[in-house]
Amino acid sequence: MVITPATEAFDAVDIIRTKRDGGVLSTPQIDWVIDAYTRGAVADEQMSALAMAILIRGMGRDEISGWTRAMIASGERMDFTDLPRPSVDKHSTGGVGDKITLPLAPLVAACGAAVPQLSGRGLGHTGGTLDKLESVPGWQAGLDNDRMRQILVDVGAVICAAGSGLAPADRKLYALRDVTGTVEAIPLIASSIMSKKIAEGTGGLVLDVKVGSGAFMKSIEDARTLAGTMVGLGADAGVPTVALLTDMSTPLGLTVGNALEVRESVEVLAGGGPTDVVDLTLALAREMLALAGIDADPAAALADGRAMDAWKAMIRAQGGDPDAALPTARESHVVTAPADGVLTRLDALAVGVASWRLGAGRARKEDPVQAGAGIELHAKPGQQVRAGQPLLTLHTDTPERFARALESLEGAYDVVDGGTATVGEVVLERVDTPLA
Ligand code: URA
Repeated sequence: MVITPATEAFDAVDIIRTKRDGGVLSTPQIDWVIDAYTRGAVADEQMSALAMAILIRGMGRDEISGWTRAMIASGERMDFTDLPRPSVDKHSTGGVGDKITLPLAPLVAACGAAVPQLSGRGLGHTGGTLDKLESVPGWQAGLDNDRMRQILVDVGAVICAAGSGLAPADRKLYALRDVTGTVEAIPLIASSIMSKKIAEGTGGLVLDVKVGSGAFMKSIEDARTLAGTMVGLGADAGVPTVALLTDMSTPLGLTVGNALEVRESVEVLAGGGPTDVVDLTLALAREMLALAGIDADPAAALADGRAMDAWKAMIRAQGGDPDAALPTARESHVVTAPADGVLTRLDALAVGVASWRLGAGRARKEDPVQAGAGIELHAKPGQQVRAGQPLLTLHTDTPERFARALESLEGAYDVVDGGTATVGEVVLERVDTPLA
């Protein structure tokens, strides 16, 4: 039995019982439990029970705000208010083929803002921004704070690994939630994301809350709740925050996988690229520039090469060669359309899992990823295809992975003679007010 020592201000079991029975946790209780968990005085099994009680009972706005503040206070807090440019950041809740950070950060920097992107590596079916950038020859994710600040002054955009000093309580709690079936608790997702973003010191924040099979939030109602909760947390912390709810029922763009997604991002920076990727990049850029108080047209910066110049400078500043050839996988396998008709559905989650099984993602955080692995899409929902036409090309260095990837794609798409697909805009809704 774990007994909280008498020197501690609260008893973990009392706090668990309070939430289990639907009560409200006080700010001192929350401050204590987060601090005590971070220093090991609250055991993993106690925090697991509390996380499950929060998942089932929920939390009020004051509790979530207090929880977020306590997680921020568990580590260092960065400050970019002395930079010569206003800072603004974007966070995506994660999706399949979501490479938007890559063109977006240099684009917004090219328009005059500072974009301090502290990113992570992928775990599970959604890819990580650092894994994608690490496929660029020479590029290094690790930077100290002084170098990060210098790149923000010189280039305006930096994408690097979040140091271990930022919200350490979240790192510990997130790993615990991952193995206790408590990742899905909206108060815990919102406070996890916002504690890191607020600790990072950004002046404004735009959230891309994904909705659909390839996203955490499968329904628009849950996505609205998460978005409204995070917008409220930003407001409570004095960080103006806006959220876009965006479609993740099918992969974003035409590529899924590390080097494949870098290639597509460079196409966007060169003024081309798939419509959904361009539209979402521009929609998020407009929101970020509005929060930064900058009156600029991001479409012009994409068209005239300024965003591409900022990308090259950003890559070079971290040791990368933006002109070097990107790695490609050794083996490929083509999946063809089974019949003539309209591709009415191509499921994001199935494609994400298939790409992960091909080697683009990792099962454990210490696993390596293959830079060239992933999937190219040759058609998107709504398009007419002919029997035998390539639908998807699977890439990997290890061909023994094809069978499991193909299993994931079974039943993942429909080709219907005379069928139709409701293909809407990628941006579904905008949320700029806290949840009531
Ligand atoms: N991303 C995070 O950083 N935290 C969560 O809880 C979920 C997604």
